[in-house]
Amino acid sequence: MSSKFLTVAHISEVPEGGQLRIELEDKEILLCHHEGEIFALDYYCSHDHLGLEGGTFEGGAIVCPYHGAEFCLRTGDVKAGPAWEAIDTYPVKIEDDVIVLVETSQ
Ligand code: FES
Repeated sequence: MSSKFLTVAHISEVPEGGQLRIELEDKEILLCHHEGEIFALDYYCSHDHLGLEGGTFEGGAIVCPYHGAEFCLRTGDVKAGPAWEAIDTYPVKIEDDVIVLVETSQ
């Protein structure tokens, strides 16, 4: 198993409470800064494939701005419908104020 580390943004681009859409290879990812932690998750909601950007943070979840589905920022699990499928999340770490996405392959 090997890990690849991808520099995706500077921490100043995602201030507390903020969000940043990034494109990485074939993926669109939303970085979210909530309560001192950075989370990386699929940009699109699993309900109607609309962007989660602009959704509010509530209790460790992001609320889809379109129909109100809620996804756990840490796991991508659905906390409230109408979505029923989890979204992907991606491990991140901060190194010298830089947000690094950790990709693991077998
Ligand atoms: S597109 Fe997100 S809840 Fe409908």
